[in-house]
Amino acid sequence: MKTSTALDTSGSDLAGSLLAWYDRHHRELPWRVSPAAAKAGKKADPYHVWLSEVMLQQTTVQAVKPYFAKFLKLWPKVTDLASAPVEDVMAAWAGLGYYARARNLKKCAEAVAGEHGGIFPNTEEGLRALPGIGDYTSAAVAAIAFNRPSAVMDGNVERVVSRLYAIDAPLPGSKPLMKRHVAELTSADRPGDFAQAMMDLGATICTPKRPACAICPFRDDCLAFAEHDPELFPVKAAKKEKPVRLGAAFVAVTPEGDVLLRRRIESGLLGGMTEVPTTAWTSRLDGGTTVEHAPFPADWDACGTVVHVFTHFELRLSVFRAKTRKIAAGDGWWEPVTNLEAQALPTVMKKAIAQAIPRAFEKHPN
Ligand code: ADE
Repeated sequence: MKTSTALDTSGSDLAGSLLAWYDRHHRELPWRVSPAAAKAGKKADPYHVWLSEVMLQQTTVQAVKPYFAKFLKLWPKVTDLASAPVEDVMAAWAGLGYYARARNLKKCAEAVAGEHGGIFPNTEEGLRALPGIGDYTSAAVAAIAFNRPSAVMDGNVERVVSRLYAIDAPLPGSKPLMKRHVAELTSADRPGDFAQAMMDLGATICTPKRPACAICPFRDDCLAFAEHDPELFPVKAAKKEKPVRLGAAFVAVTPEGDVLLRRRIESGLLGGMTEVPTTAWTSRLDGGTTVEHAPFPADWDACGTVVHVFTHFELRLSVFRAKTRKIAAGDGWWEPVTNLEAQALPTVMKKAIAQAIPRAFEKHPN
């Protein structure tokens, strides 16, 4: 099995072609310093770069843009974020998913503010030592904010490099080989622009389906284009089917329009986020997910099922609704339906509430 082939063109010439393409065709992004501005000496703000890179993991650029703007408005500096109540950060993050990122974001801001005088470390190693910063974020921030020659790897970059070298060993095992290639290719002069150019190329030209090879700066060198169907790359190990878990969610509403909410425990999936009372989420069919497991006796009406796909399983939540008076809320609280948008409700909980109260997330006049 062939795993890679040397290209005829040198790494620095390939980087040069890519950077020339990026100078003309880069995306304008709110957290990005354009190549022209960078050449004129403008520096990226490490706080903006870090915040955007954490948000962009597992999330699209379009989805991130309004969140990025909201965070900077609420917390213009990393020190502001460090001193914000964690509940406010979770509420501002609600809807972006992967909520451990929000808790880690807050911890990291606290470490930068408390241990580094509000200034981000400017090396990959220094960044890696901060809470919640892994290989990807440390490499991306080191390259983009501090122009360090780090090999920045994400899904877009893996696709580009696997096609350029026609790497037919499957992911994830081929990651170290891909990283070596990216390290060889990375521009010594403009590593930050190089990293962003690879990501833009993957997002706009070297797309998963129907890549625009005719206008790709790597077209003359790309082995997948020359020898194969580029769409066959990257090769991935066969995926396991996602297991299904079942649960029930209980939406209790008072005649005044208040909904019973509670906070999930700090650890685990959606930790620290807000929810309506739910049963445990289980793969067993025989237990715990029926109306008999409602948080308190009431006339619970079944109002359908919502499905939400998490990374490791698919959740099917049976949703029940009851009209009730304002009983003691235990460790939860009653929230006016008009104020649900401001709560730290993850998407799955918004889906469950909307299933029970179809107009819950319509804009309210207040
Ligand atoms: N995806 C994640 N980070 C990115 C960046 N800095 N530029 C373009 N796409 C990205």
